[in-house]
Amino acid sequence: MSNENNVFYWLPCSVVFVSTAHEDKKDIMTATAMFVSEKEPLLVISVAKDHLTEKLIAQSRKFTVVIAGADHEKLAMQVGSAKGEDSDKFERFAIKAAPGTGSAALIPEGAAAWMECEVESSKEIQGYQLFMGRVVNQDDCGKPPLVWHKDKFFNLNKV
Ligand SMILES: Cc1cc2nc3c(=O)[nH]c(=O)nc-3n(C[C@H](O)[C@H](O)[C@H](O)COP(=O)(O)O)c2cc1C
Repeated sequence: MSNENNVFYWLPCSVVFVSTAHEDKKDIMTATAMFVSEKEPLLVISVAKDHLTEKLIAQSRKFTVVIAGADHEKLAMQVGSAKGEDSDKFERFAIKAAPGTGSAALIPEGAAAWMECEVESSKEIQGYQLFMGRVVNQDDCGKPPLVWHKDKFFNLNKV
């Protein structure tokens, strides 16, 4: 797909980590997320099928969206290119992390915010599984977020 037809290229998005856990397995990957409603706390993520992240969400029916902090550029590239099936990314990249409140999914230090979600609905589109999540627990960690636009990372500046 050319960049002109690729909404992922044009639409600025918060860089997020999708953190997951089920039984003795855990994983984290870089992604983007989009809110779908304001009154109802719903958001949607798109996850490549048959990756460990997709399997752990399907099994646990939960995922945690972690809004990457402004200093998370390196981590975003690390967990956005390694496969959880190959190795535990938390060990491999020595990620300091702790769980939130209602899930075993881990939240890396330095995050801007996090939202624990329960899967509300799911739909497959061309090799990707879309998960709509209902936010059930959340916290603002007080750090500025990292933004993704036209294949580059940005920080926010107040206008
Ligand atoms: C900035 C960025 C955004 C990404 N967004 C997504 C996404 O929305 N969905 C997706 O499936 N993969 C996305 N990826 C790629 C995954 O993070 C990558 O395939 C990862 O290795 C999957 O991890 P897993 O195999 O442990 O599940 C993105 C990568 C980067 C660097």
